[in-house]
Amino acid sequence: MRARYRDPEVTSLRLRSPTIDLQLAHRSVRAFLDAPVSDDQLTSIIAAAQSASTSSNLQAWSVIAVRDDARRSRLADLAGGQEFVRCAPLILVWLADIGRATRLAAGRRSVLGASDYLETTILGFVDATLAAQNAVVAAESLGLGATFVGAFRNHPDQIAAELALPDQVFATFGLAVGSPDPTESAGIKPRLPQSVVVHHETYDAKRDAGVDDYDGRLRSYNEEHSRTAGWIDAVLARLADRQSLKGRDELRRHLGGQGLPSR
Ligand SMILES: Cc1cc2nc3c(=O)[nH]c(=O)nc-3n(C[C@H](O)[C@H](O)[C@H](O)COP(=O)(O)O)c2cc1C
Repeated sequence: MRARYRDPEVTSLRLRSPTIDLQLAHRSVRAFLDAPVSDDQLTSIIAAAQSASTSSNLQAWSVIAVRDDARRSRLADLAGGQEFVRCAPLILVWLADIGRATRLAAGRRSVLGASDYLETTILGFVDATLAAQNAVVAAESLGLGATFVGAFRNHPDQIAAELALPDQVFATFGLAVGSPDPTESAGIKPRLPQSVVVHHETYDAKRDAGVDDYDGRLRSYNEEHSRTAGWIDAVLARLADRQSLKGRDELRRHLGGQGLPSR
């Protein structure tokens, strides 16, 4: 709790469990030892992912496990040259997958009209995301580390081509998985205080008042890891304009081309 909040008033939890302890210890891992993720580890991670809740039990997601060196390297290039994507022994690409249901319908000479709507696209994103986060917790429980790769959405057409994605299948994000290199300079990154993110009964924008203190806490965390920015500057830069989306402003066009017009 000390590391998670860096708030002198929040130092411990009254109620704990091994699962909560594991979740509180999460950190993204971007440096990996030269060791493979075994098939048994992968099977356990995917079983955990499949145990997540899924909208109407549609299970509207799939995942591609990429281990091939050359393909990981091409994926790293498409993700803005992020080295951890090249170096991780395993990349899991989480797919919103409406295509499976549509293919089932086609085989029965039926049509899925609802697949054209934004709701169905969101459903696929949500299902894929819940599964992936379960996978992260499972991987961490096995002593592995992971980092999401949202940057795959910077070049959605090329990612779809690289992974041979069929109609109505979209690469929501990747997940780099491997054994953490203990020399990596990273720790538990502090989060906003609960007083900012938890509202009671109705939304209260005055809760933003706690953000300034948090900005200083994140700045000091970053300084310990050779970075400088506080939180507010980072948020404003990340959402500044169309350029800050790094190609993701093209997603609606891409989704339409993939058979997900998302009306
Ligand atoms: C959907 C998603 C996409 C992300 N994409 C990237 C990415 O492309 N590159 C990266 O280095 N980290 C990426 N991250 C990791 C976040 O930067 C990280 O979770 C956040 O800074 C909090 O740090 P922590 O996970 O160590 O607590 C992504 C996280 C999420 C949830």
